[in-house]
Amino acid sequence: MSGIPLLVFICGLITTTTAEPSQWPRCRRNGSFAATRQLQLQFEPTLNRYVFCDTQTDGGGWIIFQRRIKGDWSFYREWNAYVNGFGRLTSDHWLGLKNVNKLTSYGNWELRIDVYDNGQYYHLVYPNFRIEGASENYKIQFWGAKTGNLEDSKGIGIHYSNNTVFSTYDKNNALRDDNFSCPRGLQCGWWFKDESFCTRANLNGIWRNGLYWRTSAFTRWLLRTKMMIRRY
Ligand SMILES: *[C@@H]1O[C@H](CO)[C@@H](O)[C@H](O)[C@H]1NC(C)=O
Ligand SMILES: *[C@@H]1O[C@H](CO)[C@@H](O)[C@H](O)[C@H]1NC(C)=O
Ligand SMILES: *[C@@H]1O[C@H](CO)[C@@H](O)[C@H](O)[C@H]1NC(C)=O
Repeated sequence: MSGIPLLVFICGLITTTTAEPSQWPRCRRNGSFAATRQLQLQFEPTLNRYVFCDTQTDGGGWIIFQRRIKGDWSFYREWNAYVNGFGRLTSDHWLGLKNVNKLTSYGNWELRIDVYDNGQYYHLVYPNFRIEGASENYKIQFWGAKTGNLEDSKGIGIHYSNNTVFSTYDKNNALRDDNFSCPRGLQCGWWFKDESFCTRANLNGIWRNGLYWRTSAFTRWLLRTKMMIRRY
């Protein structure tokens, strides 16, 4: 019984001493600041900027890179805005594709998505996640066994967008045969497909009107969303 905390302690020591400190996200799990508040503003040295951390969910350590809670920022924005980030960290925001690429190109990261649909919270975790760089139009990739109660599998949810490049209205990389523009039609930037469905998880959509998650049976309309990553 008492062997487990000791093992965790030793693993913690090894991890701390072998990693390049400047490369470590400050939002790390069980980091130097205790999980006294659920959400904290923290300086992230890798990015040389502040990020918003979830310090409590499943042990904390999460850097939030997408959040919709109030609808006070429009997500119908151009390529440069999605690359560099926008919004207010303590409110609705998008950390920026360039920043998420920078974080996930060093070490291993897991992805967690939390949504709320006017009654219930749902979430999923993929154990591996990365966003490629500008030359690959910030393609999203996640892999490994999904956990959590938010349904996601081939053809539905965010799984549909796996391995897909990003698109905005002024840089649409998902040109469809019928010429329908996914970013214009859904009024946001996302990892859209050039297929009959632009997406099956529209977390950047129009506030209170276009945030949804397509399950195998129906479309779940969402009031809040949060996408975050954690290094391990
Ligand atoms: C972090 O803290 C939680 C709760 O105290 C504990 O269950 C977990 O094992 C710790 N994780 C690490 C990596 O130390
Ligand atoms: C996402 O796509 C990559 C590349 O094709 C693949 O290796 C990975 O298994 C996919 N993820 C899931 C969850 O299927
Ligand atoms: C899509 O746009 C191209 C180029 O303008 C045009 O040639 C084609 O007929 C359009 N397709 C449809 C289905 O409208």
